[in-house]
Amino acid sequence: MKRTPPAPLSVWRTLNFDDFLLGVPHYPEHVDESYWLRDAERIAAAGFNVVRLGEFAWHLMEPREGVFDFSLFDRAIAVLAAEGVKTIFCTPTATPPRWLTATYPEVLRVDERGRTATHGSRQHADTNSPVYRMHSRRITEALARHYAGNPNVIGWQTDNELNTTASTSYSEASEREFRRYLHDRYETIDKLNSAWGGNFWALAYDSFDQIAIPRKDNPGFVAPGHMQDYHRFLAHATAAFQHDQVEILRRANSEWFIFHNLGQLEDIDLRGQFGENLDFLGFDIYPMLYDEMRRAGGHPATQALHLDVCRAYSGNFIVPEQASGFGSQPGFSTMTPEPGEMRRMALSSVARGADGLLFFRWRPAHFGAEIYWMGIIDHDDVPRRRYQEAKQFAEDIGRIKKDLLGTTVRMDVAIAGADFDNQEAYRTYPMGMPSPLEDGMLLHRYCYSKGIACGFIHPEDDLSRIKVLYVPHWVMWKPEWNENVETFVRNGGTLIVGAMTGTRDENNHIPTDLAPGPGLSKLCGVRVEEFGRVAEPGAEGLFGLHGTEFGFHNPAKRPPASSASRRHRFILGNREYEAAHLYELLALDDDVEVLGHWSNRFASGRAAVTSRKVGKGRACYVGTYLAESLVEGLVDHVLGADVQPLVPDLPPAVEVVLREAEDRKLLFLLNCDAEPVELSSVPAGTDLLSGYQVDGGLALGPYGCAVLRL
Ligand code: GAL
Repeated sequence: MKRTPPAPLSVWRTLNFDDFLLGVPHYPEHVDESYWLRDAERIAAAGFNVVRLGEFAWHLMEPREGVFDFSLFDRAIAVLAAEGVKTIFCTPTATPPRWLTATYPEVLRVDERGRTATHGSRQHADTNSPVYRMHSRRITEALARHYAGNPNVIGWQTDNELNTTASTSYSEASEREFRRYLHDRYETIDKLNSAWGGNFWALAYDSFDQIAIPRKDNPGFVAPGHMQDYHRFLAHATAAFQHDQVEILRRANSEWFIFHNLGQLEDIDLRGQFGENLDFLGFDIYPMLYDEMRRAGGHPATQALHLDVCRAYSGNFIVPEQASGFGSQPGFSTMTPEPGEMRRMALSSVARGADGLLFFRWRPAHFGAEIYWMGIIDHDDVPRRRYQEAKQFAEDIGRIKKDLLGTTVRMDVAIAGADFDNQEAYRTYPMGMPSPLEDGMLLHRYCYSKGIACGFIHPEDDLSRIKVLYVPHWVMWKPEWNENVETFVRNGGTLIVGAMTGTRDENNHIPTDLAPGPGLSKLCGVRVEEFGRVAEPGAEGLFGLHGTEFGFHNPAKRPPASSASRRHRFILGNREYEAAHLYELLALDDDVEVLGHWSNRFASGRAAVTSRKVGKGRACYVGTYLAESLVEGLVDHVLGADVQPLVPDLPPAVEVVLREAEDRKLLFLLNCDAEPVELSSVPAGTDLLSGYQVDGGLALGPYGCAVLRL
């Protein structure tokens, strides 16, 4: 696997590999060396070609400051290599050794109340700390030098799930770094004051060294500009921390590939320096960890949503950790994948863009904070059903990889996603309303259930391959995206812009131009003259997400809602809908067609959903947020024939995804349930997994999977 420099980040990016990375994170340091050969033989016999090592073992690699010892890993790498298994090594900076935190306690994170973390878990060291960065560079240098000539180390993972446990630190060092960042960004304090709106609530500063890290538990709300820049800073600092390591590794051996395994995407701007530095991105996929699945036993659309959101940042990716069995840490536990389900979940990851996958983990730990987090083999060292399934998955990959590599995931409907600034802008000022992702999720889930190819895309990406672009209230719509989007529409695409889009500039100021801002207003032919909240069924949530102890911001203390009647309805096609969250009143250009109008109260008769013909396409505007019923309405009355399911009459619980290149199409059909299903309208093709020809009917057993080459 030779490294070739990556193409720019885009949802359409493919990996440059000629093989599928397949394996397990492995912890040889957790067992006696007498296990190692048997482990290596079984790893190879499962059909795996790679392991990932070392991410939590800094204390073994540098037992005392400046004294390095990589011998344990050298031996482990050699035993694995003798069985044909290569190694991805990790920089071990998620877990500093005790001597480091004892000698340099200033590297420990400080929480919002000023309490310093103690040694005893992981990610307790602050990646913003210049002292910690110095140590991170030192251990990376030592590792890079040591492994530069080892042909069995083929690539690197930086750290482990950066920011997943915590991204913030309120330490003095971190505050100094924040001020430095602001100084670089604004140069003069006047510019910062004007960007943050210093004349509101007397928040102007005299100098950069007066600025504090914003605290959510302050008595009042923090200015959006201040909060946005803090999160921009955290993302910048995380990228800089990683950049140190990447630079060192690249210098040591330019043929190594380098990636990071992302967990929660907290304060990481993947489309910025963080992602640009890497050859590809890795996303850890634990479908049963996602809230909904943990609580209720789950909806597979949640895994699909997560994968599609991730892919929007990076294009195809690898999964450095894919869930295998029961998972738990002291505070929670997940559902257990049933027989066949682990393979199905892994194939869902592949269907949605994974070009490499490692099952977490080879063996469960016998000690520590994850003792019941199962692996591929069991605690008694016996390989049972998960091993057999992993092996079957390796065989599946063997059958499809030649066709798979080089393909991208088809999207007919795309939702605007993968934009750090818009995500953070929402969080600076959520108003108790859904996030853009929560809004877009309703459309995603509908498409998922109907078998319509749907995903997320950034407006900078090549839009010529999609048919519909939905923009869910991106308040910071940037003018530089207009040209690409207009070209998409002129060439026949359907654009749907959601309420509240384009209401702020990059400083979170409300511009004097009416929303959705000059470019989109012209394209859609609408300007938002008025907006307001509508009462929800049950009317809770009127005053929002972040209740404070003070007055009416606290939902528990607000006066009883007299709002039951303040519901706004609109008519689209021949059906009346209830609006969700908010209404807008629109001024229209002459050439705008009204598809739906408000039907009650003072708004009655005014436009709610509009469409304007532009070139061969349409620019539509929806003056409210999505609701399940509205999604159906939009698909029926706005999208119509534009979008067709990949497979019609899809039984519930069957996931369908298409990966394609110019000369080939792979149709994934995955049964996400334990009941067998019959499909009746499957296109003709060969199921690469079974070798059978399929045309029309297809039976899938419990968690059964087929990959048709069309
Ligand atoms: C991941 C993490 C692993 C392990 C796993 C299971 O988020 O990267 O180190 O903790 O979850 O808990």
